[in-house]
Amino acid sequence: MKGKILRVLAENSDLIHSGEKLSVKLGVSRVSIWKHIKKLQQLGYQIETSASGYQLVSSPDALYPWEFPQRESSIHYYQEVNSTMTIAKELARKECPHFTVVIAEEQLAGRGRLSRIWHSAGGGLYFTIVLRPQIPPNLVSRYGFAASLVLARTMQKHFGIDAQVKWPNDILVNEKKLCGMLSEMEAVDEQVSFLNIGIGINVNNDPTHHEPNATSIRALLGETVPRKKVLNLFLDAFEEEISQVTLDHVLFEWKKYAITLGREVTIISTKDTLQGKAVDIDDTGALILELKDGTVETVYYGDCFHQP
Ligand code: BTN
Repeated sequence: MKGKILRVLAENSDLIHSGEKLSVKLGVSRVSIWKHIKKLQQLGYQIETSASGYQLVSSPDALYPWEFPQRESSIHYYQEVNSTMTIAKELARKECPHFTVVIAEEQLAGRGRLSRIWHSAGGGLYFTIVLRPQIPPNLVSRYGFAASLVLARTMQKHFGIDAQVKWPNDILVNEKKLCGMLSEMEAVDEQVSFLNIGIGINVNNDPTHHEPNATSIRALLGETVPRKKVLNLFLDAFEEEISQVTLDHVLFEWKKYAITLGREVTIISTKDTLQGKAVDIDDTGALILELKDGTVETVYYGDCFHQP
């Protein structure tokens, strides 16, 4: 109902909408309208109330489910969580539908790749998408590549930001990290039961307190950007991108945005450290590395550092 009220108010924000008309239009009592308006005001929506009715003056940059009308029922919104990955895993194990999205304003224990911390202060975008692709586990990495491809495209197309991808899924701008991505999956009998992709995007937060070599959309553009716009654009484009389930085209497209290929890199994994030239990725997304002695290694996992 809050979303419906907001949409009516926003359609004609120069008008004052009487409680009477709202109640008839939306099929609920005037008292119910009044209660929802009060709650919306508490949530940061500036709605002027007078004897003649209600007028929407401004909306906060909030990520409440009703801000995403096309997918309201699949959004799980939290003010504060430890990690959206944990909530998403619980939901996935309870059979939540494909493309359920868990969003948090702040994370107290945000997780990065290779057991790192992902600092998640207010102003950033922190969310995990639960996917249920009908694919074998060896194809899941393509979904991470699809997500980073779509993020890079979204940054370029809608914000004029020259975003590039560092293997496997970091989004960098001028070598500074703008977004990170983390995946978790469970499979039964060679069939994926769920694949959760967690994404952190530095939007209006300042990540440089903890990560000097990071940046944000606000820092790049010199102005704050509505997070709901970023999320909406990304979710719509990502859903469209993965509608072809086996993602046969995705690695080819991803390479157009990749800055790792052709570079001298160091790959650090829990097992070892490798140095060489990143020459390509194979059709599972593994990195093909040409070592100094001319031998070729296939790297499936690790942290990638570009040599200057
Ligand atoms: C990385 O670059 O190391 C991956 C960062 C992933 C961060 C996101 S924020 C939303 C989701 N919840 C988490 O705890 N982590 C991911």
